[in-house]
Amino acid sequence: MSTQSSPMTPLSHLSSSDKLVELQKQLAGTHLRDLFDADKQRFDKYTMEAAGLFLDYSKNLINDDVLASLTKMAEEAKLPEAIKAMFSGEKINNTEGRAVLHTALRNFGTDPIMVDGKDVMPMIRDTHKRMKEITQQVHKGEWKGHTGKPVKHIVNIGIGGSYLGLKTAINALTPYHVEGLEHHYVANIDPNEISEVLRKIDPETTLFIVASKSFGTLETLQNAQAARKFMLEQGCAEADIRKHFVAISTNLKAIDEFGIAQENTLPLWDWVGGRYSLWSTIGLMISLVVGFDNFERLLKGAWEMDKHFAEAPLDKNMPVLMGMLGIWYQNYFGAESHAVISYDYFLRDFPGHLQQMDMESNGKRTTLDGKTVDYQTGAVIWGGTGTNDQHAYHQLLHQGTRLIPVDFVAPATSHNPLGEQHPWLFANAVAQSQAMMQGKTLEEIRDEMLAAGTAAEDVERLAPHKVIPGNRPNNMIVPEKITPEIAGALFALYEQKVFVQGVLWQVNSFDQWGVELGKVLGNRVYDRITEKGATTDQDSSTNGLVNRFKQFNA
Ligand code: F6P
Repeated sequence: MSTQSSPMTPLSHLSSSDKLVELQKQLAGTHLRDLFDADKQRFDKYTMEAAGLFLDYSKNLINDDVLASLTKMAEEAKLPEAIKAMFSGEKINNTEGRAVLHTALRNFGTDPIMVDGKDVMPMIRDTHKRMKEITQQVHKGEWKGHTGKPVKHIVNIGIGGSYLGLKTAINALTPYHVEGLEHHYVANIDPNEISEVLRKIDPETTLFIVASKSFGTLETLQNAQAARKFMLEQGCAEADIRKHFVAISTNLKAIDEFGIAQENTLPLWDWVGGRYSLWSTIGLMISLVVGFDNFERLLKGAWEMDKHFAEAPLDKNMPVLMGMLGIWYQNYFGAESHAVISYDYFLRDFPGHLQQMDMESNGKRTTLDGKTVDYQTGAVIWGGTGTNDQHAYHQLLHQGTRLIPVDFVAPATSHNPLGEQHPWLFANAVAQSQAMMQGKTLEEIRDEMLAAGTAAEDVERLAPHKVIPGNRPNNMIVPEKITPEIAGALFALYEQKVFVQGVLWQVNSFDQWGVELGKVLGNRVYDRITEKGATTDQDSSTNGLVNRFKQFNA
C-alpha cells in the first residue's frame, strides 16, 4: 500500500516545507518495520513524558531529519511567538477582536493576566469561590427545591461547548462521582431528548443548570423553556422557579429576561471560547458531580500541561510534537482523518469532545489575513473506545486503502482491577498499535499457511486476502491512571495541539463563522414550515421537503 491517501498539500508558504516534501518522498518507500529493525533504540529516542502523560511516538513515519524539519517549520511559522501571544492575553481571535484565555481559568500562578488593562485573575478566583459554594450547598443538602427537599438530580441544559467537554470530563471521572446525585444532560432540540430526561427526574429535587455562553442558542433556550414549563406544570410556583435554576452566561441581561434570579447566575467572559469552556463556570456541572476539589485537580492537571507547552523547547514539547505530526500526515502524506481511540471506558466521550474542539477550531479555509488557503487544514476527527472498535472499524484501519493516523489512549492501571480484564485491555491496545505498525507480509502468511498444512492451491487463493500492509502511524498515550489531574492534562494536550496546527495553517482557531449559515437558514425554513399553505418560494428541494412535513402536520 502506498503511504499516501490523497495528494499532498504542502505548506509551501513556508520555506522549510521543501525539505519536508523531499523527506516525505524518501520515507514513503520505507516501512516502519524497517525503521524499528534499523534502530533498536527507537522507543527510547521517540518517547517523552509531560504532566503525567507518557507519549510513545516511535511508531510514526519519522526520523531525526523529519523531526528537525518539523521543528524548523514550527519556528518559521513563529509558533513560539504565537504561544506567548495567547498566554499573555493578546487578541489573537482577530475576527471577533477577542483574547483567548481559557488558560487563565486553570492558572494557579501568582502573576496577573491582563485583558484590556484589567487583571482577570481576581474575577476567576471569585467565580471559583461561587462554584465551590454552590457545590457545597448542594452536597450538604442546603440547596432546597420548592417543597423543601434537597437536590438529588442535576440537569445540564446546554449544547456544543456548553455540553461536550463537561460531559466528557464527568464521565472520565466516574470513580470520583459523589454519592446520591444523579446527573442528566439535555443538548439537542429533539423533543425526544428532553422528554426522556424529564421522565427520569423528580421535579421536587431537581436543579437545572442552563449553560450557554451566548444565552442565545436556540436549542438551549427552547429546552430551558420546556424545563421551566414542566416545573410549573408539576406544581412549582413561579416565585419558586429560582430554587430550581442556575444559569451561566456572558449575557447576564438575557438570563434576567429569561427569569432566572440574579443570585443564581454565574458569569463567563468573551475570551473563553465555547469549546474551551469546561474550565470555566460552564464546568459547574463537573464540580457538582465530582466535587469542587476534584474540579480544581482537573484544572491543575491542565495547568501542568500549559506550563509544559509554554516552557518546553519545541522539539521536546508534547502538544507541539503531536500537532506537527498531524501536519506531517495531513499535508505531506495526504491523510484526511485522524482517529483517537481510548482504551478506557470512562473516556468514551472523548472523541466527541475532540470533534468540536478540533473541527470547529481548525475546519477553516481562510487565513488570518483573509486569503484562501491552498492546502488542507483541519483533519476529520473520529474514534471511539477499545476494544469495541476492534470489532467494528479496525478492519479498515488495518487493511483499508486510506492512511489514518491513530492516537491510542491507554492508562496503565484501572480504577476497577477486575481479574485479568485490565491486563487484557492494555494488551489489546498495544497489540493494535503493533499490528498497525508491523502488518503481515504475503511471505509470512504463505509460510504460516503451508506450515499449518493448507493445500498449496488454497494458500495462493487465500494468502493475498490476509496481507496486512502495516506501516500505519500511531501514537500511544499511557498515563498511569485516569485521575482528575491526568484528565485535565489530556484535554489540555489536545487543546494545545489544535492551537499548534491552527498557527501552522494560519487560521483563526477561535471563531466559528461556518455554523452561522445553518442557523440563519434554520430560522427561514422554520418560518416556512409554520406558515399556512404550500411553500413555493425556495429551491425545489426545500419547497418539497417543507411541504412533505406539512402534509403530516396540517
Ligand atoms: O455551534 C456553535 C456554537 O456557537 C459553539 O461554538 C458553542 O459551543 C455552541 O454553539 C453553544 O453556544 P452557547 O454556549 O453560546 O449556547
